[in-house]
Amino acid sequence: MNLKVDICGKTLKNPVIAASGCFGFGREMSIQYDLNTLGGIALKAVTAQKRIGNPPPRIAETPSGMLNAVGLQNSGVDQFIVKEMPFLDKLDTILFANVAGSTIEEYIEVTEKLQNIAVDFIELNISCPNVKEGGNAFGAEPDTIYKVVKQVKKVSKQPLIVKLSPNTVDIAANAVAAQEAGADGISLINTLIGMSVDVDRKRPILANISGGLSGPAIKPVALSMVYKVAQAVSIPIIGMGGIMTGRDAVEFLLCGATAVMCGTLNLIEPDGIPNVIAGIEEYMTQHKIDDINELIGGLIV
Ligand SMILES: Cc1cc2nc3c(=O)[nH]c(=O)nc-3n(C[C@H](O)[C@H](O)[C@H](O)COP(=O)(O)O)c2cc1C
Repeated sequence: MNLKVDICGKTLKNPVIAASGCFGFGREMSIQYDLNTLGGIALKAVTAQKRIGNPPPRIAETPSGMLNAVGLQNSGVDQFIVKEMPFLDKLDTILFANVAGSTIEEYIEVTEKLQNIAVDFIELNISCPNVKEGGNAFGAEPDTIYKVVKQVKKVSKQPLIVKLSPNTVDIAANAVAAQEAGADGISLINTLIGMSVDVDRKRPILANISGGLSGPAIKPVALSMVYKVAQAVSIPIIGMGGIMTGRDAVEFLLCGATAVMCGTLNLIEPDGIPNVIAGIEEYMTQHKIDDINELIGGLIV
């Protein structure tokens, strides 16, 4: 049975990748299972300087999902390289460095610093507010997506995967803008904006008031967006949003994703991703499929 998939000329041993922000930099998760069994790891977002993130509470459970407002807490790109890369260097899996910023200059600075280290892909997290343009997220509309992707692409030797936000009007137009600006692939979806209220205290549950919704609650939205984007672009797509099982992952592959990422799953079941991989194999056995590539875009409509 072949589980290998190709993204931008790089081979993933299977199509299941840990999603950014839900797997740290891998170290804590390595006590759960052998990380080399993963198709890849998308690392926690890094920014130019250290960020302390938002005040607590920054996580809340919701029906079939969760809200988070962690706020890009990280030690900054220089510390990431010194502290995390020696451990990551030893792994035999594909690494995606997730880059965030408040300005186009910050995205460029971080990407430049990641050029001479052993990460396979740059994943551009464009869900961050653009502080120079009134605070709307870079990923909210095609114009700003085009501008940031075009600039970052100029400095990135690694293939550039642009991670789209679902908090937008036309996800397909955003994907096309990313492709036209030089993106080598698209990953989607990031979290949906949401909020929860504690009615006894009459206060929002998150200190940040709103946060990002993830988990099974968002899977139908994610699938429909992956399907739309797959119709609109020719570059590879990595799908995510609420994947908990192998069969969930197969849904994304059928809708046109070449690979998938699992985020919230890791917070519920720290050893969950190997079960997703096993579940895909089980599905392939049941359906007598020898090569996973036969599933990609195989939805019958
Ligand atoms: C606690 C938490 C932290 C996250 N941090 C990041 C991040 O640093 N960068 C990023 O691109 N996405 C981040 N995400 C979004 C996930 O990578 C993923 O796009 C989203 O959660 C949907 O997938 P899921 O339903 O499998 O979690 C985060 C999500 C959660 C729940």
